[in-house]
Amino acid sequence: MIKTTKKKILCVFGTRPEAIKMCPLVNELKKREDAETLVCVTGQHREMLDGVLRVFCVSSDFDLSVMREGQSLSYLTSAILCGVDKVICEARPDIVLVHGDTITAFASALSAFYRKIPVAHIEAGLRSGDMFSPFPEEFDRRAISLLSSYHFAPTNEARMNLISEEIPRERIFVTGNTVTDAIKFTVKKDISIPEFLESSLKKDKKMIIFTAHRRENLGAPMENMLRALVRVVKQFSDVFAVCPLHKNPGVRETAQKFLFGHERIFCIEPPEVDIFHNLLARSHLILTDSGGIQEEAAFLGKPALVMRNVTERQEGIDEGVLRLVGTDEENIFKETAKLLSDDSEYNAAARPTYRFGDGRASARICDILLKI
Ligand code: UD1
Ligand code: UDP
Repeated sequence: MIKTTKKKILCVFGTRPEAIKMCPLVNELKKREDAETLVCVTGQHREMLDGVLRVFCVSSDFDLSVMREGQSLSYLTSAILCGVDKVICEARPDIVLVHGDTITAFASALSAFYRKIPVAHIEAGLRSGDMFSPFPEEFDRRAISLLSSYHFAPTNEARMNLISEEIPRERIFVTGNTVTDAIKFTVKKDISIPEFLESSLKKDKKMIIFTAHRRENLGAPMENMLRALVRVVKQFSDVFAVCPLHKNPGVRETAQKFLFGHERIFCIEPPEVDIFHNLLARSHLILTDSGGIQEEAAFLGKPALVMRNVTERQEGIDEGVLRLVGTDEENIFKETAKLLSDDSEYNAAARPTYRFGDGRASARICDILLKI
């Protein structure tokens, strides 16, 4: 009898967005008989990571628990670089999978590269063209592309970015973004959302979801965003805003200072991903500086104002569902007010698109991974 050897695949992730986009892939890999799948979480995030693992029923084989309050980029990079190195020496994987553009992804990919283990980069090829926005993510993703052997690009635009950087074409695979697999799993009609939000929706109020957390937006840009939100809610009596506060203390302090005491603005703890996706699905519009929420908004057809000066998700802008509004208070207010007061503007933007994926990215990635 011929003994078949399984491909040993080590998936490494550590923040909430990576977990949301990697868990569907982990669960798909676990179904495949020719793969042995191991999960290493760096714990760059803690509560926000653990919640995602719970929702997708994924458990870790290794947990580096690196998170510290106010962690610097250098601390994170060195802790993860050394931690993942030990895991690689113990697990001896055939391939290491990393996702996106976080420090977890960058340092883990570098660790694998130093041990000459091939790296597969999921969500490869996104580019903003500005090394300082998002910071340090634009550097991370470019550096990961340099040292990866396989590049799973979510869209054709991402593939073209990689080709323009001379990544060999035969190593790039367009698969869609696994965030669409996640959202197909989480969005359900019968899921319950917090009662006070349900009752506001029952009063025919329109829900705005507001999130902001980017490092380059801490301070003045975030204050501008918050002032704009307050003006919007004061001006439009038929809306209410829900603000899940990122666990970063820098974000929470500023948000609480500006939003505290405002009627119809609810600051809440970040809901678990299944609840959050269902809130997005029932929202009227979204204000965000997030990466993943741009893709989710586009998939759900919820108009989203992207409070950044550049985006690496141009596909959503082209489709009209995303609008880049920068971080200037007046502009954010004006663009939001336009969508709230002009039905034809709103309806033109509220169109779902599969430009970021169709919910089957994980299966495609697995098929390719097990063939190469
Ligand atoms: C990180 C990623 C960013 C991603 C974001 C998703 C980097 C450089 N940045 O940024 O790309 O968009 O995650 O949210 O990799 N904290 C907690 N509990 C948690 C999570 C965070 O207390 O579950 C607090 C800690 O004090 C931590 C701080 O938040 O020090 C910042 O976390 P960190 O991962 O360094 O940066 P993010 O801004 O979350
Ligand atoms: N998310 C969540 N709960 C929240 C806010 C966001 O589950 O309270 C999810 C969201 O659906 C998306 C991901 O977290 O999938 C985005 O994470 P974040 O904005 O922190 O990071 P980014 O995508 O900008 O890297």
